[in-house]
Amino acid sequence: KKDIKIAPSILSADFSQLGNEVIAIDKAGADYIHIDVMDGMFVPNITFGAPVIKAIRNKTSLVFDVHLMIEAPERYIEDFVKAGADIIVVHAEATKHLHRTIQLIKSFGVKAGVSLNPATPVEAIKYVIDDLDMVLVMSVNPGFGGQKFIENSIQKIQEVRNLNNTVDIQVDGGITNETIGKCIDAGANIFVAGSYVFSGNYEERIKSLKER
Ligand code: DX5
Ligand code: ZN
Repeated sequence: KKDIKIAPSILSADFSQLGNEVIAIDKAGADYIHIDVMDGMFVPNITFGAPVIKAIRNKTSLVFDVHLMIEAPERYIEDFVKAGADIIVVHAEATKHLHRTIQLIKSFGVKAGVSLNPATPVEAIKYVIDDLDMVLVMSVNPGFGGQKFIENSIQKIQEVRNLNNTVDIQVDGGITNETIGKCIDAGANIFVAGSYVFSGNYEERIKSLKER
């Protein structure tokens, strides 16, 4: 079985202290920094873009896991690569030519992931999954932190795992020490956690996820 990785989402960090928050989360034992980019179109909320990511790039050497919740993400892939992304995740629902967008991401030498909204079936990635480094199963509707875990996500994780035995499976939304265990059992190995990590002692919260 794959090692469990924890990817705290800076969506729940103090934006006025973003650099220090990234340093603190690195010290606390995070594996990735999960970076939620929202455009107010694909999702009903706006966060930040490539310049903000670039500004925190020199604060840590951890993997920058960039989750693009934006329409037509192919327009900005190069910008996010230049800003320091190590993994770029696009939504299957947001790009008309998913295969082309995946190849574009990989052409820059960074890892490629595809995310599925709660209502999107796994079939949407059936013909591209072998090209992917990571599949992101959304366990809430994207747009906000602090929402409740959607239980159907467990079945979806199992379906993705049945389709491909080696791809990284990331779960995002409502992950706590109470919901992470069933996701691990279903076959996921990378866990985004926003409100859970940032609402307590970062090190203790990350540890409690790894111990589940
Ligand atoms: C939701 C974002 C998540 C969010 C998770 O649209 O993609 O990464 O930060 O927050 P929690 O862990 O609080 O559900
Ligand atoms: Zn996310």
